[in-house]
Amino acid sequence: MKPLFLSVLPLALGATTFTNPVLWQDYPDVDVFRVNSTYYYSSSTFAYSPGAPVLTSPDLVNWTPVTHSVPTLNFGPRYNLNGSGSAYVKGIWASTLRYRASTDSFIWMGCVESSKTYIWSSPAPRNTSDSNSWKWTSQGTNPACYYDCGLLIDDDDTLYISYGNPRISVAQLSRDGTRQVKTQTVYDPGSGTTFEGSRLYKINGTYYIFATRPADAEYVLKSTTNSPFGPYTAKPLVNRISGPLSSAGFSHQGGVVDTPDGRWYYVAFMDSYPGGRIPVVAPLKWTSDGWPEVVTDSKGAWAREYPLPVPNPSIAAGPGPEGTDLFPGPALGPQWEWNHNPDNSKWKANSGLTLQTADVTTDLFAARNTLTQRILGPKSAGTFRIDASKMRDGDRAGAVLFRDRSAYIGLWKDGSSAKIVLVNNLTLAQSSWTTSSKGSVAATGPTLTATDDVWLRIEADITPAFGSNTERTATFSYSSDGKTFTKLGTASLANSWQYFTGYRFGVFNHATKDLGGEIKVKSFTMQLVK
Ligand SMILES: *[C@@H]1O[C@H](CO)[C@@H](O)[C@H](O)[C@H]1NC(C)=O
Ligand SMILES: *[C@@H]1O[C@H](CO)[C@@H](O)[C@H](O)[C@H]1NC(C)=O
Ligand SMILES: *[C@@H]1O[C@H](CO)[C@@H](O)[C@H](O)[C@H]1NC(C)=O
Ligand SMILES: *[C@@H]1O[C@H](CO)[C@@H](O)[C@H](O)[C@H]1NC(C)=O
Ligand SMILES: *[C@@H]1O[C@H](CO)[C@@H](O)[C@H](O)[C@H]1NC(C)=O
Repeated sequence: MKPLFLSVLPLALGATTFTNPVLWQDYPDVDVFRVNSTYYYSSSTFAYSPGAPVLTSPDLVNWTPVTHSVPTLNFGPRYNLNGSGSAYVKGIWASTLRYRASTDSFIWMGCVESSKTYIWSSPAPRNTSDSNSWKWTSQGTNPACYYDCGLLIDDDDTLYISYGNPRISVAQLSRDGTRQVKTQTVYDPGSGTTFEGSRLYKINGTYYIFATRPADAEYVLKSTTNSPFGPYTAKPLVNRISGPLSSAGFSHQGGVVDTPDGRWYYVAFMDSYPGGRIPVVAPLKWTSDGWPEVVTDSKGAWAREYPLPVPNPSIAAGPGPEGTDLFPGPALGPQWEWNHNPDNSKWKANSGLTLQTADVTTDLFAARNTLTQRILGPKSAGTFRIDASKMRDGDRAGAVLFRDRSAYIGLWKDGSSAKIVLVNNLTLAQSSWTTSSKGSVAATGPTLTATDDVWLRIEADITPAFGSNTERTATFSYSSDGKTFTKLGTASLANSWQYFTGYRFGVFNHATKDLGGEIKVKSFTMQLVK
């Protein structure tokens, strides 16, 4: 499958600088590394499935999703959303991905629900940009929980992993990662201070751990011996640094990576709710005694613009987030993730995405097979073209602005007619993440003529408003020709961080009476809105 993704060149030809954020989408807990000329970026996805997306880039600036390290969340029955409860906000937290030269493969590890660490691996594909050539398989588990882990494959192929909260530990693992050979606490930030989100590196023969003090600082720990077990001494890398965006959190967590010619960059993320956590890049310089420092602007801030890390990449950038997906099938493009593991018997992509109803429920959060994609900031429109002619009495389908406080523009089929509705205030209760409101109809539009396609559009402003009472707005509209859109209403976007994942565009179809109905999603278009 090759997603038909019509995209515009993100950088003007001849550009010499890049602008932060490098990708205005929710890709938190970044773990970044380079193999040859390609940069890799692994991110966390909670209960969304497939999980742990991998993006590649030729230059640290233009990123394209190419695969997911965890094709099916194998963490227990609730990840299927079919009778054992739900897993919202559980699942994949900060995890780690590395290339292993000795086996020519990629290895992913992540601790789930503080219980054990799951391991997945794929042989290195000949073409890492080709989604179909990745073959991820489960490699079992390690009984220890390596919370917020960072994997290092040492020069002699030994696996070490840094992890933990509030103290940082390092473990040596068996060759296949499934057993612990040794573990030791290597750094204690002192009572009242938490370190987490660690990444372990060997740079010029010295072991370093980069760890965050959530959610406002990043520390560098440097081993004083030639051992990954330290002891380590620590210095702040960034501490409540301002920029590059306002009304966002502090740039922190993430990791470091070099260019083929030996220059180093720090890739962090900013809490940018309602949009989620988005990546920012800054160059590093090194002191003569081996400590990295972030290059700031003249005011000491993380700059909005820096010179391009790789001005003339030897490989081409893949498509960016804008464009139209016609769902050529049979696989979905790697930009898509379901709300939980899907029921694969109820969907098919083949010149359009057929979504059969998978559940009889009046609760969108309890319905399987809601398909989502990260919103593009600062403001974008997501438009689904839907053939609703095979909906059945009682079916509910539509385009959802999906998060713990959701709203949708949808089609309610009752009897033989389907009307367009705006449903607002669908909520999950904080901390239990169970449904606290199934929402209510905020506006009603026209009734569809049975056989025509309908276009449903959500235009969402995810400009950061983190820590503020200002709520951004989304506008919901519909069209019968894909050109002229009629506004049905608006909803506000919650800025809270507790759900962790930012707002997404999604499409859903569930029954309230009987299974058997379906919709066909003929296209999805993501467009930046100026
Ligand atoms: C990196 O380059 C080497 C040498 O050309 C090649 O053998 C190897 O397959 C490449 N690795 C990846 C993951 O692309
Ligand atoms: C690798 O795959 C991508 C995506 O399918 C394609 O655009 C690119 O041309 C391929 N590169 C090579 C060298 O075959
Ligand atoms: C690594 O060592 C080389 C040679 O001494 C030096 O030029 C380079 O700056 C060092 N890099 C780092 C990141 O310390
Ligand atoms: C839940 O879904 C999974 C995957 O689709 C399936 O294997 C399992 O049998 C289902 N369980 C129940 C109770 O229906
Ligand atoms: C949604 O909830 C908010 C806060 O409880 C309320 O002000 C608003 O009227 C509700 N909107 C709808 C459409 O029910």
